[in-house]
Amino acid sequence: MIAVGGGKGGVGKSFLVANLAAVLARDGFRVVAVDADLEGANLHTCLSVPAPPRSLADFVAGREPDPVKLPVETPIPGLSLIAGTHAHLELAHPEGARRTALLRGLRRIPADFLLVDLGAGNEPVFLDYFLLADEGLVVLAPEPTSVENAYAFLRAAFYRRLRLALRSHGVQELVAEAMDQRNERGIRTPLELLREVEARDSREGARFAETMRAFRPQIVVNQVRSARDVKLGYSVRSVCRRYFGVDADYLGYVSEDPAVRESLRARRPVVEIHPRSDAAIYLRRIARKLSRSAGGGPAVGGSR
Ligand SMILES: Nc1ncnc2c1ncn2[C@@H]1O[C@H](COP(=O)(O)OP(=O)(O)O)[C@@H](O)[C@H]1O
Ligand SMILES: [Mg+2]
Repeated sequence: MIAVGGGKGGVGKSFLVANLAAVLARDGFRVVAVDADLEGANLHTCLSVPAPPRSLADFVAGREPDPVKLPVETPIPGLSLIAGTHAHLELAHPEGARRTALLRGLRRIPADFLLVDLGAGNEPVFLDYFLLADEGLVVLAPEPTSVENAYAFLRAAFYRRLRLALRSHGVQELVAEAMDQRNERGIRTPLELLREVEARDSREGARFAETMRAFRPQIVVNQVRSARDVKLGYSVRSVCRRYFGVDADYLGYVSEDPAVRESLRARRPVVEIHPRSDAAIYLRRIARKLSRSAGGGPAVGGSR
């Protein structure tokens, strides 16, 4: 399960999910693309499924309790879609344990890869997908506003994970306090918070450090125009280390390419209609890195 988030709208999350899913499916994996952006669902359009008969909204609203029945076929063999359409405005993801159960239910879907497209913003439900996934991709574009939102998203995800990991009430309160950036203790970064927790409670300190190690976001820079834009991924990685004490990976980048807009107009992934474009080359590179880190090639016959 790979969740794709990043805070800002328009950076290319849906584009990335549609294209990585298409590459992995063409490589012989069974892939399901999931549109968790119920308010701005458009993955179905990127994948040429104009009117999906079922969607994640049916699952969230309880109309379809079996997640295995949600995927619908796309024109690409091996790639199916859980659309995000038909959500009513008042439809909200359930809270707490029921939400976790719901998200875990998606894992029962028989597939090699589940790619989840998260909406913009730091909604708790998006953070939960991000934290529950095996890989969390943070997409950013080389613009200050996008970089800012990517950090805000990472920070929110990190603190959410931390609050779920810690047991002692006192330390949880300390974390809640530290999340306010003007807190009176002068805790400015998660790393400073770790020092404070360690001083107070060594077992919680150890849990905290463990949580930091387990949090390993993957950075993708999209719409790259220059060598300087490419380097952005490295600087985000080093800020993650200094600020969060977290090792992020720079998974890759995708160039800005006119073929992308053209492919969207055709409602098809760019890797399908312009496989030799620059964007397609970089997208395949990222997809293959993901399949390698997930443990190799598809099973013969396509069922695993
Ligand atoms: N690599 C790229 N090259 C050119 N245009 C791109 C690229 N990536 C995204 N875009 C443009 O940005 C728009 C927003 O992408 P989208 O995937 O919908 O963003 P998000 O899902 O993050 O809101 C697309 O409609 C497309 O026109
Ligand atoms: Mg989108």
